[in-house]
Amino acid sequence: MSDMNFARHKFYTDLTAGGHVLVAGATGSGKSVVLNGLIVQAIANGAQLILLDPKGGTEFGIYRDTLDCIGYAADLDEFRPALEKAVSIMDERYRELAAKRKRTSEDNPVYVVIDEFGDMMSDRKKDLQPLLLKLARKGRAANVRLILATQSPYKSIITGDIHANMQSIVALRTLDKAASRLIISEIGAETLNVGEALVRLKGEFTPHREKVPMYSDELLEKIALLRTPPSKRWK
Ligand SMILES: Nc1ncnc2c1ncn2[C@@H]1O[C@H](COP(=O)(O)OP(=O)(O)O)[C@@H](O)[C@H]1O
Ligand SMILES: [Mg+2]
Repeated sequence: MSDMNFARHKFYTDLTAGGHVLVAGATGSGKSVVLNGLIVQAIANGAQLILLDPKGGTEFGIYRDTLDCIGYAADLDEFRPALEKAVSIMDERYRELAAKRKRTSEDNPVYVVIDEFGDMMSDRKKDLQPLLLKLARKGRAANVRLILATQSPYKSIITGDIHANMQSIVALRTLDKAASRLIISEIGAETLNVGEALVRLKGEFTPHREKVPMYSDELLEKIALLRTPPSKRWK
């Protein structure tokens, strides 16, 4: 969407150019700031959104009625249909690829954004984890991308399987070295200030330190309103 250039920033275009993205760091380290940056970037790129928030849906509320949002979950009970929708889009695209003898989809990206995905990994492991893993392993070729955020740097949450399938990683400030190592395979995130990140983009072996650009609430709301049909606008 060319009229959305004000919503683009190199930090976020670089991240969305890869495949799946992991965003991890302590509470207050800036995960929501990064998620919002990625979401408006996705909107500007003409992507569709499936937004999942285990804690009441307020995190992504302004995007809920945008034309770009095709799935929304406001608590863990609503995760299953939202994830199933993403999987069915992926499966459909795989069928098209097979029919066309192609390997990667040229369809518009679908971003499946999950805030605090640790909740589903711990509370709904049996029910939801297989869907998440399916998307992690097969989504990229179908242009169905995961954006996963967590404040829980544990092996039971950021499992080897999930970690290995994340092409881009944003490590925000962590509480200790062990958390940094688990998130980005190196120490260093424990020394970051709020607003800084260790970033490892697709194809890179070592992370680099970057300032994280923050969009103001006013700009985020402006973008969301622009993409919301007049009858559903709150302002
Ligand atoms: N990149 C940034 N630039 C400036 N301030 C930031 C940045 N990231 C976070 N902050 C500040 O820290 C606060 C908490 O960030 P938030 O994204 O809500 O953290 P988290 O989601 O990890 O708990 C923000 O409201 C903002 O004041
Ligand atoms: Mg947050």
